[in-house]
Amino acid sequence: MLIILNNKCNLNKEEFDCYYDNLRSLVSCHQLVLCPSNIYLEKVNLSHISLGSQNVSGFGNGSYTGEISANQLKSLGVEYTIVGHSERRKYQKEDNHMINQKIKELLDQNITPILCVGETEEEKESNQTLNKIQKELEECLNGFSNKEKVIIAYEPIWAIGTGNTLTKKEIEDILLKIKENYPSNKLIYGGSVNEKNIEQLKDSTVMDGFLLGGLSLKIEELKLFLEKVEEV
Ligand code: PGA
Repeated sequence: MLIILNNKCNLNKEEFDCYYDNLRSLVSCHQLVLCPSNIYLEKVNLSHISLGSQNVSGFGNGSYTGEISANQLKSLGVEYTIVGHSERRKYQKEDNHMINQKIKELLDQNITPILCVGETEEEKESNQTLNKIQKELEECLNGFSNKEKVIIAYEPIWAIGTGNTLTKKEIEDILLKIKENYPSNKLIYGGSVNEKNIEQLKDSTVMDGFLLGGLSLKIEELKLFLEKVEEV
């Protein structure tokens, strides 16, 4: 299983040092990927945890003040990058076209994009979930011959950070629909996954992993989560 730890915009330097020390003792037979704030990327050097970033520039190197290019990420050892997260779509107004450019930059540098897609509560209520996801996938992945390299993360926006999630069956139904058009892509789920609800989410034959936000910061709970995933 692939377990992505998305720290989001959390942890000051002191807090990160302490967190990082705790991560050293985290044991797991699964593939862990830590996505810290960019300012800590260079500090991370753990043999049992891969390095990921939370964002990338849609441009290459050059006159793009404040941006970080895929080439720069690559040079720091970044292997995975989250793109299309609903928080960036909302607060940074990123659209599918911009996300498509970011994915191109990543694939060119051989960094694995983790593309987040998912519906709002209103879209869910009006039965628009699959349409929304299909449109995001089509537009974000448009034009790539190697799109199977992209990990697709289904993250219902209403489930992120709220404590609400879908049942395993509901998640699997959506992932199976995605699989019809993207049979070779890895599919993961994110949105309020924690050490309690993992009991009913694990053992899936459709999910290739989880994207963890809040839980990524809570070491003790994260350990419990990993123990439970490993009981499979
Ligand atoms: P959450 O965040 O686990 O805190 O809901 C998931 C995410 O935003 O990727």
